[in-house]
Amino acid sequence: MLFSPYTIRDVTLKNRIVMSPMCMYACDREDGTVHNWHLIHYATRAVGQVGLIIVEATAVTKQGRISARDLGIWDDDHIDGLRTLTSLVHEQGAKIGIQLAHAGRKATVAGEIFAPSPIPFDDTMRTPKEMTKIDIEETIHAFQQGARRAKEARFDVIEIHAAHGYLINEFLSPLTNKRTDEYGGENRYRFLSEVIEAVKEVWDGPLFVRISASDYHPDGLKVNDYIEYAKRMKAQGVDLIDVSSGAVVPAKIQVYPGYQVPFAETIRREADVATGAVGLITSGLQAEEILRNGRADLIFIGRELLRNPYWPKTAANELGISLEAPKPYIRGW
Ligand SMILES: Cc1cc2nc3c(=O)[nH]c(=O)nc-3n(C[C@H](O)[C@H](O)[C@H](O)COP(=O)(O)O)c2cc1C
Repeated sequence: MLFSPYTIRDVTLKNRIVMSPMCMYACDREDGTVHNWHLIHYATRAVGQVGLIIVEATAVTKQGRISARDLGIWDDDHIDGLRTLTSLVHEQGAKIGIQLAHAGRKATVAGEIFAPSPIPFDDTMRTPKEMTKIDIEETIHAFQQGARRAKEARFDVIEIHAAHGYLINEFLSPLTNKRTDEYGGENRYRFLSEVIEAVKEVWDGPLFVRISASDYHPDGLKVNDYIEYAKRMKAQGVDLIDVSSGAVVPAKIQVYPGYQVPFAETIRREADVATGAVGLITSGLQAEEILRNGRADLIFIGRELLRNPYWPKTAANELGISLEAPKPYIRGW
């Protein structure tokens, strides 16, 4: 199944291998624009036969960057570079998505940083400003503008980053959202809901949301909470939930091959929504098992694709499948 096509809305992926979003912190000019590194890095994975490449967390506001070297989509000036990137990847037969992100209290850029509540991540990080209603409105608008620019840059998929303790995740979790207004308490989902609505006003292509399915904290969110959120996302027109976990608060996490797959499986079954599995998936057989047993719909590969841009070929060999070579590589494939 790993090498069977997968269609979401009007986009067909040639296989179910997705390059997981991974920050490169490679914007040397610190202006968020695409550099040669990004062009080479992503196009190489397209040559390597990845079906869908999701470009790293890309900041919808300047203050929403994890670091000053993050990729950005907060300005129309970013569109040209991103369009060059999508066209290079398309030329090599892959689809390309972008992860729209805001780092919230985990931003390390100079100046004010923002979060639902004024609580720092840990004692090495700054205390964020508690967002006002105007800050919230402006940020939702920034996600919408990011989506509009992504469309102009010809991305095939948008993924909203609601995981890993960044801004949207901070609104969802009771550990980081202590608000008493209409964005807190019972209404912690409201911010994500409004981001989804705003994005959908300008974007009718495939929409993914990445979540952290567990806070790994006794008072934090657990997979059951995310089943409910996933049902709401599906009702709002989200096509796939990309299921990661953790990083909301400092926590020790026991990791092992496929450790997050049970979350993707549970959400898929209980919320009846397509999911992506990610986290220490490194072999073709492992990926095939996940798909064949209906535990997820797409396989997101992170670090293994940093080590080996031709991982799809490695996985195909393991599964005894003959994978078509990029023409210039036929003699060495
Ligand atoms: C260098 C690096 C950068 C990452 N940047 C992001 C990111 O921008 N957005 C995101 O959601 N996850 C990010 N992640 C997490 C990966 O997408 C992935 O979920 C994680 O590495 C687990 O998958 P793996 O075991 O296949 O690497 C990053 C991971 C690495 C190693």
